[in-house]
Amino acid sequence: MNILVVDDDPEIVEILADLLGSLGYEVSSAANGALALEQIAEHEFDLLLTDINMPVMGGMELIRRVKEMEKSPIIMVLTAYASMQSAIDAIKLGVYDYITKPFEFEIVANAVEKALERQFLQRENVNLKEMMALYRASESISAQFGLDEVIKVLFESAASFTKADFMALYLNDDSPGNHEFTLSRRKLLRPPSNNTRYLLNLLPKHLTSALAHEHFTSFSSKLFQKHDPLLASILADSEEPVEFSSMMAFTLKARNRLVGVFILISFRPEVVFSDKLRRSFYMLVSKAAACIENSYLYNNLQQHYIETVESFAMALEAKDSYTHGHSYQVSLYAALIAQELGFSCNELAMLQKASILHDIGKIGISDAILNAEGKLTESEFAEIRTHPLKGRNIIDPVSSLNQVGEVIFHHHEHWDGNGYPDGLVADDIPLMSRIIGIADAFDAMTSKRPYRSSLSIKEALIELHKGAGHQFDPELVTIFISLRYEVRRLLVGFRESGYKVIKEVPTRFRESAVICK
Ligand SMILES: [Fe+2]
Repeated sequence: MNILVVDDDPEIVEILADLLGSLGYEVSSAANGALALEQIAEHEFDLLLTDINMPVMGGMELIRRVKEMEKSPIIMVLTAYASMQSAIDAIKLGVYDYITKPFEFEIVANAVEKALERQFLQRENVNLKEMMALYRASESISAQFGLDEVIKVLFESAASFTKADFMALYLNDDSPGNHEFTLSRRKLLRPPSNNTRYLLNLLPKHLTSALAHEHFTSFSSKLFQKHDPLLASILADSEEPVEFSSMMAFTLKARNRLVGVFILISFRPEVVFSDKLRRSFYMLVSKAAACIENSYLYNNLQQHYIETVESFAMALEAKDSYTHGHSYQVSLYAALIAQELGFSCNELAMLQKASILHDIGKIGISDAILNAEGKLTESEFAEIRTHPLKGRNIIDPVSSLNQVGEVIFHHHEHWDGNGYPDGLVADDIPLMSRIIGIADAFDAMTSKRPYRSSLSIKEALIELHKGAGHQFDPELVTIFISLRYEVRRLLVGFRESGYKVIKEVPTRFRESAVICK
């Protein structure tokens, strides 16, 4: 146990040092409050035994400053009978006990032992609470599936456990050929006193590169002192001095791969990261690394599935020269309406997916029914009507496309409730389903079919107008008709290309619908 004795009387310091030393304690001393603070910044003490009246900085000011610290020692004051009021004031500040001068050895020994016992129990209690909180945070990280959520919990936990003033996370997403670590997220809780740009940008970036290189040896986590050779070599390129109180870094490893680097910095002298904190927090960082890697794997898996399903949709249309390019054209007409409605980029991307995949369920319908010439029987119609449900089931495994599944499921609902599969009415039909319903009908009418030639744009718009309020959302039909010149330009493009999927579409559509990142 480490004790710091603070008194401006060298005789008292010597007597106490001898006494406490003989009882097996490590004793340090300081002649006033200011010198004591310097020692406390350098070493961790279990007990602070301080006089009240001292030059430079007295005991009361010292107590106030120590009490503000993150992990303060337990405090006892030494006081003369004449200054009992000071002892009472000190106790109000949270001091554990006082010893009156002149003191008896036995009383000092007992009081110190009692105080240290109390300190030990308090710290054990704090440790237990911290470990439980860390455990709960790590469980919370494991419960997250998305990358953003995992990172959010990691940052929240780091802010709460480490009291860091600045945190930065650099990640490598393991995409082919990507060896770069890019900034994923950073959080500034309190600004540095100087050299802000260097501390918040260049230092973490350069340190990440250096650690990413070094991890192939043994690096996993580290507390950095300014004189650390690796850090010193990085700091050498800063034109101004770099001021921080404490810094630690963690590498995030999963499946034998370096997923990222997490850097935490404290700018305040009273927040100094300890080795114990680094060790406990590493548990949480390791868990985050595994979850981040899993989210990459999951996203890749989902992306592959989406691409496969999209290629099925294209293949399905390609079997029939009359429907070739239909979904793609529907996606552009739908984007035209959506843009007028002020859809966000994400909503446009979702609408585009739903448009491309709206008839994917037809994969599950027999070719004999799909290509039947002449009138379909009632049972054949019933079979056709299952394609929205089949479509939703096909993309059901992709959780990120759940909403797209709902849009597909309802794309044959009618405004007046006479559609299928649920007979939804008006606004109960998802907006994107209503948009696709119009785009789908318009493209079908303006395309050739084996049994009829295509309608002109005007004829098709008249048909949409007739269906407004019955099959179609009347407001959306009005919007679509108001866009007839843009619709015409798009359709002429399709026709000139022989109804092939057009790579070069007018800028406005390209910006909104095709390249919406
Ligand atoms: Fe359909």
